[in-house]
Amino acid sequence: MATLVSLRRLVNSVAAVAFYQPTGSEAEEYHKWYYNTFVWQKTSWLGVTTWKSVSDMWNYQEIIADLKPSLIIEFGTNQGGSALFFATIMKRLGQPFKVLSVDISHKHLDPAARRDPDIEFIESSSTRPEIAEQIQRLKSEYPGKIFAILDSDHSMDHVLAEMKLLRPLLSSGDYLLVEDSTVNGHPVLPGWGPGPYEAVEAYEQQFPDDYTHDVERENKFGFTFAPYGFLIRN
Ligand SMILES: C[S@@+](CC[C@H](N)C(=O)[O-])C[C@H]1O[C@@H](n2cnc3c(N)ncnc32)[C@H](O)[C@@H]1O
Repeated sequence: MATLVSLRRLVNSVAAVAFYQPTGSEAEEYHKWYYNTFVWQKTSWLGVTTWKSVSDMWNYQEIIADLKPSLIIEFGTNQGGSALFFATIMKRLGQPFKVLSVDISHKHLDPAARRDPDIEFIESSSTRPEIAEQIQRLKSEYPGKIFAILDSDHSMDHVLAEMKLLRPLLSSGDYLLVEDSTVNGHPVLPGWGPGPYEAVEAYEQQFPDDYTHDVERENKFGFTFAPYGFLIRN
């Protein structure tokens, strides 16, 4: 009897998977649900608020574990959850590293993130020339690959300026994540105005040979808050 039940369960499971027919809109619906319910604002890493989708965080963890960078550059700290997340993963990789996290204001920075010795926090606009100088200094102190993530002011002009600031600082194989390209109807917040997605398009018009899109990782979990934003420096 037990064998018959197990066999029926096996056949039903195989049939359910084999005959599954996606309508094509599930991932987009989930994307909109995830964004519009603000669950991403109620997400935390080790108790520190982190404004990300958890599947993006998992994806970044996989990229970082493969890339093994020595320097992580984050524009847009907010409460520091994402900086702490990156530092936690990097510590496990066991190589010398630094996380640089820049925000125009650190008034919301959580003390639990602030006291991590592997993270350097700078209070400044991300596009100031001193930020490029500091990245250059950290590059010589921590030679190796860079993982950079843009998550600050989500206007096209600002993101484009950040990408241009990083242009002479990133080398072949380095990774650039342009976050929140989901706004302006990609597919959330239609009517936002030109944002990160349009910044990537504008950058590529000017510098078409700089990056290759990592489409496989971008599509891996069905949706991402960084559509068109997974870039590998050529
Ligand atoms: C979306 S939040 C960052 C979220 C954070 N990375 C996380 O995952 O939890 C955007 C942050 O960008 C900062 N910001 C806005 N304009 C900026 C600028 N010009 N330069 C640097 N940071 C800026 C804001 O103060 C805000 O804290």
